[in-house]
Amino acid sequence: MKKIIIINGPNLNLLGKREPTIYGNLTFKAYYKDIIEKYKDVSFEYYQSNHEGDLVDKLHDVGFAYDGIVLNAAAYTHTSVALGDAVKAIETPVVEVHISNTFSREAFRHNSYISPHAKGVILGFGLQSYELAIQSFL
Ligand code: DQA
Repeated sequence: MKKIIIINGPNLNLLGKREPTIYGNLTFKAYYKDIIEKYKDVSFEYYQSNHEGDLVDKLHDVGFAYDGIVLNAAAYTHTSVALGDAVKAIETPVVEVHISNTFSREAFRHNSYISPHAKGVILGFGLQSYELAIQSFL
């Protein structure tokens, strides 16, 4: 059984409530439930933190044991050398995802410290971005 972890960064605990015109009305919990139902032969874990260091720690914890990491580092994508270095340091492939098309938004969202070290990047498909990333590991 493949082991895939979804890691969400800051403010993504507010999905469903946060800026619904950009991020939609669905909570991540509801979306995650559907994903688990749909991919029964995958062992999933979900982790969310608003704290940069905790996200680095989690990447270290899972980064040599899992088959795939789906990472939405949210705002830290654009600011965190530490998260970029962590993705570079681990062995498990990371697919970077974003709900919104960051390139159609403010210029500060166009840079990613994760992308150079990611296996691939999927963005702009709403929550479906996560599912496309999962499929890339199967
Ligand atoms: C995001 C895009 C980021 O620019 C933003 O800071 C987020 C969410 C997305 O999924 O579209 O928090 O990663």
